[in-house]
Amino acid sequence: MESTVTVEPVSVSIENLYKSFGEQKVLRGVSFDVKPGEIFALMGPSGSGKSVLMRHLVALEQADEGEVLIGGEPADDPGTQGNIRTAMVFQAGALFNSMTVYDNLALYPREHRLYSETVIWEKVTSVMRALSIEGAGRKIPAELSGGMKKRVSVARAIIMEPQLILYDEPTSELDPILAATTTELIATIARETGATSLVVTHDRNLALSIADRMALLMDGKLVFRGTPDDLRNNNDPQVLEFMNPTIDPLNPRFRKQENDV
Ligand SMILES: Nc1ncnc2c1ncn2[C@@H]1O[C@H](COP(=O)(O)OP(=O)(O)OP(=O)(O)O)[C@@H](O)[C@H]1O
Ligand SMILES: [Mg+2]
Repeated sequence: MESTVTVEPVSVSIENLYKSFGEQKVLRGVSFDVKPGEIFALMGPSGSGKSVLMRHLVALEQADEGEVLIGGEPADDPGTQGNIRTAMVFQAGALFNSMTVYDNLALYPREHRLYSETVIWEKVTSVMRALSIEGAGRKIPAELSGGMKKRVSVARAIIMEPQLILYDEPTSELDPILAATTTELIATIARETGATSLVVTHDRNLALSIADRMALLMDGKLVFRGTPDDLRNNNDPQVLEFMNPTIDPLNPRFRKQENDV
């Protein structure tokens, strides 16, 4: 992409994180580090607490116990949030329907007076082209398909030129080709800007192709932490079943009952 800005990457450190909602213990002692400039993929079944964990990094959740540090500073400290530029791609987009896609994308650089309108236009146009959403600028997010909204929220994060990018399911709702393009773009942005990336995903291709390291969250704990190669060589039955779930058409679960119409 043109006119890429390099940033000072930051580390992320999650130490013995516990989080419950009422009686429900969602995170039960989770620890991992993301090194500056690294792409780290966090995988795990639906409902395992991946989004909850990620929300701690933008101070939308408070830890019950343990520490969540960005660049060595507590993530829930307003000073940390003010000093370090973190962008989050929310699972559901979180775009403003009161303004056009273009204005959603231009919002951050305008509010922070980062660039002139001409430079903002160049940057927004270049990122929109990279994500194949160049025709959507005048629409409002509510008029877009799920996959287009997803790409607009990825674009909005990239345009912030963040030191840390948090992606929550960046490729869900995308067809396989767009998922692959978006995966490549995540890797390109990380490489070209040097930003640190934490990607929560169900997408095995994404994790195995671009992550430097990855972890698997199950029942509130990490059952695996290592490189994609470590994962490929892992024989833990829980890990194997998650990465390669078996679908047995003869399983009674999938069989039509005799009295089904
Ligand atoms: N604010 C909240 N109050 C109560 N329970 C919550 C809250 N946020 C999340 N939970 C619960 O925490 C659990 C983990 O939710 P989370 O959204 O982190 O799952 P996830 O791993 O991101 O799943 P998915 O892959 O489907 O996105 C779920 O059981 C959810 O209902
Ligand atoms: Mg989630």
